[in-house]
Amino acid sequence: MDLFDKLQGRPGPLGEFTSEGYGYYTFPKLEGPLGPEMKFNGKDVIVWSINDYLGVGGRPEVKEFDAQVAEKYGFSVPMGARLMTGNSDQHEALEEELADFVHKPSAMLLNYGYQGIMSVIHALVDRNDFLIYDELSHACIVDGKQLAIAEKSVFKHNDIVSFEKQLERAHRKAKPNSSILVVTEGAFGMTGDLGILKEMIALKKKYPFRLLVDDAHGVGTMGSDGSGTGTHLGCHDGIDIYFGTFAKAFALIGAFVATEKRVTEFLKANVRSQIFAKSVPLPIVESARKRLELIRKHPEWREQLWRNTHKLRQGLINMGYNVLPAECPVTPVLTQGSTELCQLIMRKLREEHGIFVSGVTYPVVPKGTVLIRLIPTAAHTDIHIQKTLNAFEAIKDMVFGKETKKKTA
Ligand SMILES: Cc1ncc(COP(=O)(O)O)c(C=O)c1O
Repeated sequence: MDLFDKLQGRPGPLGEFTSEGYGYYTFPKLEGPLGPEMKFNGKDVIVWSINDYLGVGGRPEVKEFDAQVAEKYGFSVPMGARLMTGNSDQHEALEEELADFVHKPSAMLLNYGYQGIMSVIHALVDRNDFLIYDELSHACIVDGKQLAIAEKSVFKHNDIVSFEKQLERAHRKAKPNSSILVVTEGAFGMTGDLGILKEMIALKKKYPFRLLVDDAHGVGTMGSDGSGTGTHLGCHDGIDIYFGTFAKAFALIGAFVATEKRVTEFLKANVRSQIFAKSVPLPIVESARKRLELIRKHPEWREQLWRNTHKLRQGLINMGYNVLPAECPVTPVLTQGSTELCQLIMRKLREEHGIFVSGVTYPVVPKGTVLIRLIPTAAHTDIHIQKTLNAFEAIKDMVFGKETKKKTA
């Protein structure tokens, strides 16, 4: 059978939705300057779907700086992979600054977070090793696990008993040259809960292992100085390899891992997605440095993010919404219902109230549940929050099924 013909018969779990709702529910186009007020289908909307947590991407000084470095360097340099012709003083300076920010001795820049972490996991373990990961880990960790040739096992989400069981099993089966790598997230991006890092780290005494934490949602947002979920939980030193991306609080592209120098040296020579791929262009490197400098200089941006998060969350809870007990700014509202209900909520909010939210249903969340995820940022104002709460009040009966019940009665 022709491969292309066969693909039509297996659209994949998201394929059906992407073709049906293209441009609306999936692949929507948010236009205009980045921020909480953008345009969707030509209409003004208040946006709760972008991960620009600190409102960095829309700040005039950031946009000005981006324009200056684009003009100075252009987007082509440096050409080639870091290992060959793509290195620069600026790449190395950024790595030093990132390491200092997250309180680790050394850092390695990654051209993309997803491929970067996948490839880091692949590089770290060999066939004698054990790779243990949380079942709710981001797709990049799951894919990294597929690449890795170690023996893999999964533990129930944030379940210390299940985790210890996997650790104990790995130790029992270990050969003298076996090592254990554990991978989890700092702040889980869908549910907003934090990894149980402290409890996990405590088990190192009984069953030694190395811990890699994907803190995509925590870098810049968590901890008194923005250095992440480990700092927030008071166990940062127990994280052996810290992963952060620029895709969220930095409002940019690229990522990094931070760890001991001997490990970054190993990774620089062994992470295939970096060795065999073009390095990050200079304007991006310089823009990342600028963002980092500003994030460090402005802790009040993080404070504003948290004030907005609490205000939004409390408002929704007061109205009776089931807001999952998130511990990072991600605000997930869970309700019972079908894909149709999820689409109806998104449509009503966008068309009747000018509120842009993203919703997810099965297969991302269990069948029969709808998750509306709101991402507060430091750039949202009280007016944005109040308008959004008013809109959620207006659609309450529909969300809780009272309207449908009234109609069918
Ligand atoms: C938890 C987590 N890890 C990794 C990534 C991938 O990062 P990037 O967008 O930089 O490729 C994401 C998404 O951005 C994420 O949410």
